This record gives sequence, C-alpha cells and structure tokens, in this order.
Amino acid sequence: MTGDGHTCNILVHIDAIVVDSICTTPSDHIFTIKDSTYSHDPSSPSPPPPPPQDTNTDPDFLLTSYTTLRHAVNSLSLSSSHSPNNPHPILPPQTLRRALSSLPRPASPAYLQPLGPSETHAHLLRDILPALNHQSLSPLYLGFVTGGVLPVAEAADNLVSALDQNVQVHFPLPPLPSSSSDPSRVPERDDDDDERWTHSASTAVEAAALGMLVALLGFDNGADWRGRTFTTGATAGNILGLACGRESVVNSRAAAAGAGAIKTVARDGLLAACRAGGVEGVQVLTSMGHSSLAKAASVVGLGQGSVREVGRPGEPWRLDLDAVEGELRKGEEDGVVSVVVVSAGEVNTGRFATNVLDMPKLRSLADRYGAWIHVDGAFGLFARALPKTDEFLGLHANVAGLELADSIAADGHKLLNVPYDNGIFLCRDASVLTQVCSNPNAAYLASPGDPNEILSPLNIGLENSRRFRALPVYAVLLSEGREGIAAMLSRMVLLAREISAFVRDSEHYEWLPNEDASLESTFIVVLFRAKDAALNEVLVDRINATGKMFVSGTKWDGRKAVRIAVGNWRVEVERDAAVVREVLTAVAEGR
Ligand SMILES: Cc1ncc(COP(=O)(O)O)c(C=O)c1O
Repeated sequence: MTGDGHTCNILVHIDAIVVDSICTTPSDHIFTIKDSTYSHDPSSPSPPPPPPQDTNTDPDFLLTSYTTLRHAVNSLSLSSSHSPNNPHPILPPQTLRRALSSLPRPASPAYLQPLGPSETHAHLLRDILPALNHQSLSPLYLGFVTGGVLPVAEAADNLVSALDQNVQVHFPLPPLPSSSSDPSRVPERDDDDDERWTHSASTAVEAAALGMLVALLGFDNGADWRGRTFTTGATAGNILGLACGRESVVNSRAAAAGAGAIKTVARDGLLAACRAGGVEGVQVLTSMGHSSLAKAASVVGLGQGSVREVGRPGEPWRLDLDAVEGELRKGEEDGVVSVVVVSAGEVNTGRFATNVLDMPKLRSLADRYGAWIHVDGAFGLFARALPKTDEFLGLHANVAGLELADSIAADGHKLLNVPYDNGIFLCRDASVLTQVCSNPNAAYLASPGDPNEILSPLNIGLENSRRFRALPVYAVLLSEGREGIAAMLSRMVLLAREISAFVRDSEHYEWLPNEDASLESTFIVVLFRAKDAALNEVLVDRINATGKMFVSGTKWDGRKAVRIAVGNWRVEVERDAAVVREVLTAVAEGR
C-alpha cells in the first residue's frame, strides 16, 4: 500500500497459494486467496500429494504465511468497519457452512494424510479464518464481554509463539564473582567476558509485567501482593481465590483447635483439616456471583451449593453487609467458615457489589469472623485505571477499598485487550498461595534461587508448564502507559453511557436494572429490553440480523433482556454510538 493508502497492487506467490490483493482505496480493498492445488473433497479416492518442497524446514514459510495472514485479516477488518461495501461485522451463514464442510471427515481416505504446511495454511486462510467471529476486529461486537487485541499485544503474542517459552521455574542470574555482591547488576560493556550463563529473562519480564499491573491498578500501597501470577482467565483466578480462601479459613480453625500436629488442607486434604478444626462446612457468600464462581466452588471441593446469595433487596448485585454479618455470625455458631466474594462488577448489569465505605466494613467483619475476602474483578477491576475525573468518580468509589481484600481475580483478555487466554490473580499473603500451589518433590524443577526473589510461577499457580502470557500484557503496559490505558477505558465507558442514555430516553426500550439510575453508574455494560413484549422475545436476533452490531442476551427478573458490553480498543464514541442508535431505532420501528 502506498503512503496515502489510495493505490496498491500486491501479488504474492507462495508455493501453491497465490494471494492477489488489489486496492484503490482502503474501503474497496479486495483480497482473494486463489484456490491452490489443495481441495478438500471428502469423497476423493486419494489425498492430494503434498508439494515436494513443502516441509516444516522451509525457511520462508513463516514469513510468507504471516504476510498472507495479515493481508487476509486486514481485508476482514475493512469489511467490518461499516464501509458501504460490506457493513456486516458478523458472519453470514454460508461462510460457516463452508468452513464446516471443509473439516476433515474420518471416512475420507484423505483423513490424517499429510497435507504439508503450505496447503494446510491455505486451508486455514480460505476456509477457517473467514468463519471466525470478528470480535477483535469490530468495535460493534458487543456480545458477552470479550475485548479485542491491541496490535502491540498481537505482535508480542507472536513473539511468544515464535520462541515458545515455558515460564515455570525462575532461574536467577548467578552471583558475580567476588567483585560485586549485587546479583541483579546488569553487566556493563566491559563485562563481555561475563561467564555467568542464565536460562531465560521470561520470569523477570513476567514479574515486571505483574509489578506494572499492580501499580496501574493502585495495589502498590501497603500490602505487597507478592502472591501474584498470570492465569488463563478469571475462572482460574476464582478457583485460586476459593482455594486460597479455603486453605486459610479451614487451616486457622484447625490450628486454633490445637491438638497434635496441625492439619492443613494442602497437605492433609479438606476432610482431614475440617475434622481437625471442627469445621462443618465452608460457605461462599456473594451478590450475583458470576457463574464461574459456582464452577470454582465445585472444582475446589466446596460444591456449587456452597455459593449463597447475600445481595440487597432491589439491588441484588450489591452486597448486603447486614446479611453478610448475619451469615458470618450464624456460621460461627454452626461451625461453618466463610469466603466472601465481591462481584466487581456483575456481568449482567456491570454494577458493583460495593461502594466506598463498604470495603472497610467488610474487612472488619471478615477479621472478626475469620473469613476470607476474594474479589471477582474480571472486567470491573479496570475501573481503577480510569482517569480520576468527575465523570468517573462514582466508578472509582465502587472499586475503592478493594485493596483490603485477601485475593483478587481479573482478566487481561477483556478490557486490557490482550489475546486470549490471559488472567491475573493477586494474593495478599504469598505464603497461602504457595501452600496451595507448591509443586512438591520434583528435584528437576527446583529453582536454585533465593526464595525471596521472584517466585517460580509453577509454585504459585495452577499449571506447571505455562505460556509466556505475561508478554502481551508487558507490551501493552509499556506501549500505552497509564495515560493510554486510561484513555482506552474512558472511550469504552463513554460509549456505554451514550447507549444507556439512548435506551433510557427511548419510547421503545426499558433501561435496566432501574431507569432512574444515574448515567454515571454505567461502566461498560448496558442492560435493556424492548417495551413491546413480542419484540422483546426476538430482540437479540433482530438486532444481530441487521449485521451492523452483535449483542448477546440474558434474563432479568425472569424475562428476556439484551446485554451490550463495550470492550474493544477500537471504540470511537460518536461514530459507534450513531450506529447503535440507528440499529435500535430501526429494529424498534420494524424497518
Ligand atoms: C465477573 C466475571 N467473572 C468471571 C468471568 C469468567 O472469566 P473467564 O471467562 O475469563 O474465565 C467473567 C466472564 O465474563 C466475568 O464477567
């Protein structure tokens, strides 16, 4: 493409694939992958032979495959951005059918016959890629809570794949010979003869990324949150939160009971530790906890039924602290210990469980009754990174005091716009996390390092072998800084508020959960339904059928409702709000 973006002519030949890209303006960009020798016919008697030089050792394969991939994605992006030629950010059914019919069939003689890297890549670009959703490409993919991928995060993630680091054990740089006592001293130029070999910088980069995140989110005052790690997402973070909470509250009862060797959940198991501490049960108290919380409770052996709602009447997403206190007191009488989970924010409404004075009160209740506080901040935690301007003060009040919790889960793959799968878990007391996650008895995985240095990730998380998922986060934090991230989050919130205002003022729609709420209670989620009951039944489908935006559905008060969740870095408030207003008006008027 030329500098002015108006004329280009790209013809790339890659073995059997021919990519022919011709454009005159960005909006009429045409991209085609011409059929190659690969044609997947399930009924064909014999598989096509792979081209003779099509091997994994072809030095150009990755270069060319990546170039063609980016051209293909760019052409999808152009068709996703409301161009007059193709304003549809969602998939036509025939694209999906084509992808499904291209999948290998076990009955075919070609099944599991080698296709070779180039042919395989051609198939991925031609048949699979067009049938994937465009959530990361379109600011108007407003379903679920997905986020997109900042280009710098994608570039970092490619580096992760290119070098396939396994970030599990921290091997520190061995100390310099007697001349220096500072093992972290970076060798100077004239240290070229430094003979200390080390393993990888990945654990140090991961630690740097976690440190920057902790600072960005304002958790760097007071507690050090040394128990910190990257997870696969907030579900894994909730599993860790309940596991740490269970470990702490049950063990402290077992320790208080005193007799003989102290039992712990990690070493002796939940049943033995509960028996030793006279614990009859573990309950999880929450207000509209995300569904993954019940899953986490099942995984850590508490059971889905241990999750109990203690939300305020009329505002079920808000923790009712009087009810929490009642349950903690009753639990104490009945031998039931508790983990309190703060939903910051709640996935249907985007509202928060606490407000500015609630967390100190909750902390003092938890200390009095020996409970653990876990925050599920999958998307809402990032409200702490919004600018501290008047329009966001209400949201800051919602997330004030979360630093008083014992553990916190959040997602990188949502509002931070790094690729799936990426989550963050913080635990105030690193020793609890280490006790839960220590990988014992593997001499070959032992870190020779100082335990006060970076903790080996395999001892503070669920996995042993782990992807270097810290790198895209590191890249985003470095590239955008506080300011860039605050600006990105502001755009998301302001678009959500524009949509809230439209829905609130529209004669056709009902703004949920309460129409008299302040617009400033909107974070990134907008919940609403059609006033016309018949339209409401099909509202999600009608909106999505326009092809101009994508929303997902839910239920509120037992009736269908639509959720809009804004989470893509590409958001432009006025442009995108205009499309949403136009679509919702047209759908309501039956146009
Ligand atoms: C509040 C909340 N918690 C947990 C999750 C689960 O997160 P993940 O899908 O990253 O595991 C979500 C997902 O939307 C969520 O909104």
